[in-house]
Amino acid sequence: MRLSVGLLVVALSSSFNAFALADPGRGRFHVKEAVHVPRGWVEHAKPAPDHTIVLRIGLPQPNFPVLEKHLYEVSDPEHGRYGDHLSKEEVEDLVRPHPDSLEAVNKWLVSHGFEETDIARSPAQDWITLRLPVVAVEKLLDTKYSVYKHIDSGDTLVRTTSYSLPAELHDHIDVIQPTTMFGRLKSARSTLLFNDNDEDDTVALSKAKTTADNIAATLTNQVSGAVVDASCNRTITIKCLQQLYNVNYTPQNVSTTPQIGITGYLEQFANVQDLTSFYTEQKPEAVGTSFTYVSVNGGENPQNLSQSGAEAALDVQFAFGLAYPIPGVFWSTAGRPPFKPDTSTPTNTNEPYADWLDYVLSQKDADIPKSISTSYGDDEQTVPRSYAIRTCNQFAQLGVRGVSVIFSSGDWGVGDGNPDPATQECITNDGTNRTRFIPVYPASCPFVTAIGGTENIAPEVAVSRFPSGGGFSDYFPQPLYQLVDVQKYVAALPKGTYKNLYNPLGRAFPDVSTQGDRYRIWLRGIARSIGGTSASSPAFAGLIALLNDARAAKGKKSLGFLNPLIYSAKTRGVWNDVTVGKNPGCGTQGFNATKGWDPVTGLGTPNFGKLFDIVV
Ligand SMILES: *[C@@H]1O[C@H](CO)[C@@H](O)[C@H](O)[C@H]1NC(C)=O
Ligand SMILES: *[C@@H]1O[C@H](CO)[C@@H](O)[C@H](O)[C@H]1NC(C)=O
Ligand SMILES: *[C@@H]1O[C@H](CO)[C@@H](O)[C@H](O)[C@H]1NC(C)=O
Ligand SMILES: *[C@@H]1O[C@H](CO)[C@@H](O)[C@H](O)[C@H]1NC(C)=O
Ligand SMILES: *[C@@H]1O[C@H](CO)[C@@H](O)[C@H](O)[C@H]1NC(C)=O
Repeated sequence: MRLSVGLLVVALSSSFNAFALADPGRGRFHVKEAVHVPRGWVEHAKPAPDHTIVLRIGLPQPNFPVLEKHLYEVSDPEHGRYGDHLSKEEVEDLVRPHPDSLEAVNKWLVSHGFEETDIARSPAQDWITLRLPVVAVEKLLDTKYSVYKHIDSGDTLVRTTSYSLPAELHDHIDVIQPTTMFGRLKSARSTLLFNDNDEDDTVALSKAKTTADNIAATLTNQVSGAVVDASCNRTITIKCLQQLYNVNYTPQNVSTTPQIGITGYLEQFANVQDLTSFYTEQKPEAVGTSFTYVSVNGGENPQNLSQSGAEAALDVQFAFGLAYPIPGVFWSTAGRPPFKPDTSTPTNTNEPYADWLDYVLSQKDADIPKSISTSYGDDEQTVPRSYAIRTCNQFAQLGVRGVSVIFSSGDWGVGDGNPDPATQECITNDGTNRTRFIPVYPASCPFVTAIGGTENIAPEVAVSRFPSGGGFSDYFPQPLYQLVDVQKYVAALPKGTYKNLYNPLGRAFPDVSTQGDRYRIWLRGIARSIGGTSASSPAFAGLIALLNDARAAKGKKSLGFLNPLIYSAKTRGVWNDVTVGKNPGCGTQGFNATKGWDPVTGLGTPNFGKLFDIVV
């Protein structure tokens, strides 16, 4: 585990502190963070000296525990402050670095010849951004960058395995990236899975619509009692989700400001013509409507049908279709990890979701949609712990401002991203090469809601064509809101099960689930059947947007950070427990779906009607 590396670094730097104090202005360098080159990557070449790096420096947020306390109070349905979200300004005050840290870092940058005009600061000054040639970064951080190559894909990154800072700065800087981060954001950590060998879905759909035996052609879900068109067992449409999850609500409080948001990365473009085809078939009243497109950091929006992206199509069609007529926004964020240094692109930020977080946190409270879905993630261990903690804290900042931050739980069960579970190695990156389950970040962040995948209607079971991502974080401790449910599951495992393969005291995910396979979307002008927990997350976000609308109509605040509500005694009867299925990976059968919470489907799938009665 990375923990051992972190502890080693801390021990080294504190033992040298006294020595460094002798020269407070330009102390000696001490290693701030060191990692092992992750498996599958090799050092390939030296970067060109003028290769540009956009360096992000994160200063400590000493009052973050206060923010966290607010977050739990305003998100706890039993607390008197439920819904009493903080404003942008209040949040910025709580993440502001200590003046001593600002001063120490400024002094350091000035000593290297930088001026205020060379740097950009976040509104709370907790992040500093500098654009520098790699040679200057190497001098600043006493390090050497290399071009690393990913053996299987040929992808490359410009990174280092260790960087240093003067000892007196160690307490004033949390994290500097890109340095040691080898993470590569992926679409639900996999490619989306098409179902092209399935029976012709168009036939199945029209049969369900037109045949006289329509009434007989239904299934009854054993857990919720929902009566669902039989075709839904093969093909998931908006109507199927409404039937299965007991959704019968027409938005009333519709404003012109988007209230549901979809993030788009990796040149995944949402195409309006495909959305219109989808609406024509599944949501005729929505034909003629679209979504707001916002470019983040130069993200593009080509409306060329042949550039329509499967992930983007799935996300916008189901999230916006379920939430209609609530307006939606699609953010297209530029930046594509892996960076190819042999193309003409001069910069290498490679952390597009950090750019998106900066962007969205800088927006006015009223302008941020209160339900946001993201279907991207990566192996937790490839994101350095310090960086995962900082970005996870940014999701908390959204939560305390009343935003539900929703992520898919990944598509490889307990395993790594290798599409063949039989050959998954699941080896730790910390130099010890131990076998271990590989959790997914950001799903493993305790401040987001992670959504797993199910399939079939009667009964609903854990998705099987790909295993629903689930497990336990190696970075984040188990939050109180889920402790009882998760420990009940852990205690029921046969003694010694998967010993040393997972952290039973880590943040466990997913929290809940929704259907994850056989979604019927329109892509590049054609109806396709597609699956992934990539489908589950936008579907859940659509339902949350509906609840927020109903609450707004009654003058109530948005639901915000959902997890304390999801695990509360209040909503016990809301989740349709999923008790069949498993999530294999790493050469094991993974975990089982069981009665109550499990690391495959969480607490189960939503009964929207019941949830509505509780929260509206
Ligand atoms: C639903 O589909 C699954 C898999 O395709 C099949 O095994 C199951 O029997 C079907 N259920 C019903 C009730 O038709
Ligand atoms: C649309 O995209 C395709 C493939 O990327 C390209 O070949 C074509 O020229 C583009 N069409 C237009 C009108 O830009
Ligand atoms: C771990 O694996 C890497 C190669 O993947 C190897 O270079 C290294 O020596 C191994 N370390 C141990 C402790 O086995
Ligand atoms: C939503 O409902 C609230 C409370 O009733 C009201 O103040 C607000 O104007 C409504 N907004 C819209 C867009 O209808
Ligand atoms: C899952 O269930 C199977 C069948 O009951 C059982 O053999 C296995 O031990 C269970 N695995 C776990 C991790 O609970």
